[in-house]
Amino acid sequence: MRRRTAISVATCSLALSLAGCGVLDASSDGGDATPTKGNDITVGLLLPETANTRYDKFDHPIIRSKVAQLTENRGKVVYANAEASASKQAQQLQKMVDDQVDVILLDAVDSHAIADGVEKAKDAGIPVIAYDRLAEGPIDAYISFDNELVGEVQGRSLLDAMGPDVDSSDKIVMMNGSPTDPNAKQFKAGALSELNGKVRIAKTYDTKDWKPENAEANMAKAIAEIGASNIAGVYSANDGMAGGVIKALEAAGVTKLPPVTGQDAELAGVQRIVSGEQYMSVYKSYPAEAEAAAEMAVAKVQGKDIQFDALTRDRVDSPSHQDIPAQLVSVVALTRDNIKQTVVADGIYKVSEICAAPYKAACAELGLK
Ligand code: GAL
Repeated sequence: MRRRTAISVATCSLALSLAGCGVLDASSDGGDATPTKGNDITVGLLLPETANTRYDKFDHPIIRSKVAQLTENRGKVVYANAEASASKQAQQLQKMVDDQVDVILLDAVDSHAIADGVEKAKDAGIPVIAYDRLAEGPIDAYISFDNELVGEVQGRSLLDAMGPDVDSSDKIVMMNGSPTDPNAKQFKAGALSELNGKVRIAKTYDTKDWKPENAEANMAKAIAEIGASNIAGVYSANDGMAGGVIKALEAAGVTKLPPVTGQDAELAGVQRIVSGEQYMSVYKSYPAEAEAAAEMAVAKVQGKDIQFDALTRDRVDSPSHQDIPAQLVSVVALTRDNIKQTVVADGIYKVSEICAAPYKAACAELGLK
């Protein structure tokens, strides 16, 4: 995928409301063409898995409440989670087409395999907006984070953590995401743009279904081949897998853990950052992404073209289609130093949740209260 205007959206990055980005409120009368639909609309939401906590904890509830807010509580969201099965997701999509929902927000398990389903929705006159992962096929728009930037932030942070004396012979292990998720390729490309030539990538793995237990098993193999004491850092593409990586290192008797990266600011990940087991995560403002998706879906169905265009000023290419209207939201590195300014400030977690019993002392040390 190409990133054309990623920089122009960076200023909107962490704003929880899009007002600051110059985006009109899709609920107000933008004065454009007569809406094709009123507030009685049904948005179909297809999310990929439950291994990662973000989908049920943030994406789904935020989209649901934003759709309600934009439609005077008349709009509905029907939700289906594919639990990492591409075939299950194809059936869920087909059901939404049969039920004639008004618009579909699709976060694909397998971005290539779902293209046929997208085509069918299109034939049935139902717009499809790719959510978070760039589905192939004739989608109407795409909303996501700047995924290459996610990888760059992870790569740069890992080098920072390894210190000023980092050497091109220092060995790291790379734990990448699911090969059916196009984001995983972008995270990897972004990370490699920072790491190549600076460290030695001794072992690299793709992780089926993003499962922490698969990452744990791969890490155990890497330790057996490289030797735990020779591993100077681990690039893990997300927090769930970072948890698996750390388990494998601890099971191998490592007491001084090498820096391990992550992504998603999961509660367990943030707690490991507090305790010093995990070096960093990438904080992606789920409200910014999910609310923009709800606004795009409602504007699309209501025929509010000016709002829709304002929400999709970027352009991306998928393997099957070009010049897809898009919005790419920026991201930031989350380390011990900015927990308060990120997840706490945005109301994602309360300090009391992060600083539960086992983390109390470490929180106090960090001044987190
Ligand atoms: C990616 C997504 C991440 C994380 C990951 C694993 O596509 O961008 O936020 O959820 O999948 O589930």
